[in-house]
Amino acid sequence: MGGAERKHVFNAGPGALPRAVLEEVQRDLVDWQGRGLSIMEMSHRSSTYEAIIAEARQTIADLYALPADWDVLFLQGGASLQFAMVPMNLGSGGAYLNTGTWSTNALAEARRVGAAVELWSSAERGFDRVPGPDEVPATPDDAPYLHYTSNNTIYGTQYHHVPQSRAPLVCDMSSDFLSRPVDVAPYQLIYAGAQKNAGPSGVTIVLGPKALLHAYTGAASVPVILRYATHAKKDSMYNTPNTFGIYVVGLVAKWVRDAGGLAAMAARNAAKAEALYGALDAHPLVRGHAEPASRSQMNVTFRLETEDQEAAFLRLATARGMMGLKGHRSVGGLRASIYNAVEPASVDALVALLADFKG
Ligand SMILES: Cc1ncc(COP(=O)(O)O)c(C=O)c1O
Repeated sequence: MGGAERKHVFNAGPGALPRAVLEEVQRDLVDWQGRGLSIMEMSHRSSTYEAIIAEARQTIADLYALPADWDVLFLQGGASLQFAMVPMNLGSGGAYLNTGTWSTNALAEARRVGAAVELWSSAERGFDRVPGPDEVPATPDDAPYLHYTSNNTIYGTQYHHVPQSRAPLVCDMSSDFLSRPVDVAPYQLIYAGAQKNAGPSGVTIVLGPKALLHAYTGAASVPVILRYATHAKKDSMYNTPNTFGIYVVGLVAKWVRDAGGLAAMAARNAAKAEALYGALDAHPLVRGHAEPASRSQMNVTFRLETEDQEAAFLRLATARGMMGLKGHRSVGGLRASIYNAVEPASVDALVALLADFKG
């Protein structure tokens, strides 16, 4: 690849991408597979690009073993736009589990569209946990869905079970998409901004049954561009899509497939997380943010005893080629995002840094 030595990228998002994918992009950027033009210069209406987007869609469908009556959409506007599109398309009265900033934002947007219920929240505990399997109150009978955030990027918590609900589930999987297998049966919608595990920013992946995605039943006042059916009926090419971003998402999905698929990713991620949490638990100066049962395998959040120690730790990390370890500005402390593409060697380097850090 050339240039500076590659850093250990612990960024929360945009996050690390597989080096093999970056190298393939580099090879193809100016002259896509010998066709004499860049992927970025191609018409999204060309047969070449149609094949690229179709392959990206199929690879994701295969990874999740999606039923034949499900579809995969590539949208824009980030996961944040989904906070609004979900209630506009699925109806008001949705129930929400509030486990952090992103769920709070999702609930707030739903309340702009109509009624929405906060069924459970860990706000008063500083979002240090997600609800346990038996803790979520019954979803109201008239709720069209139960919305939750499977991994809370800022607080470093993650569900290790599927919440029980009478209503079908809608899940923001932005920060653990493609990181572990998911049985989609209880879901009616899954969405994820690509920029953590799945590709560059600017692409949002939406999975759902065709019956829901292709048939709009919401209010007539909702602009057509905010309706899933508009995008679903045009194979995500109602308007010009993020052609480059979708191409990279397709390459990342193939990288996951070739590495053994979602079960293999889950095993690799579990091993990285176990090594890092083990080192943190053993360190006398470290305090983890998340309750152990809710610990995230994607974003590992922790504090040292003083802010001076945290600043010293970050200086040492920078000197050793590690970046992105500062916690989110809203919570402070430290955070290591160890997404799919973060190599075990990078986690080993962080574990070694912890062993050497005496305050
Ligand atoms: C879990 C989760 N949901 C939603 C968002 C917002 O995503 P976007 O910036 O794509 O709108 C983020 C961003 O970091 C996130 O981590």
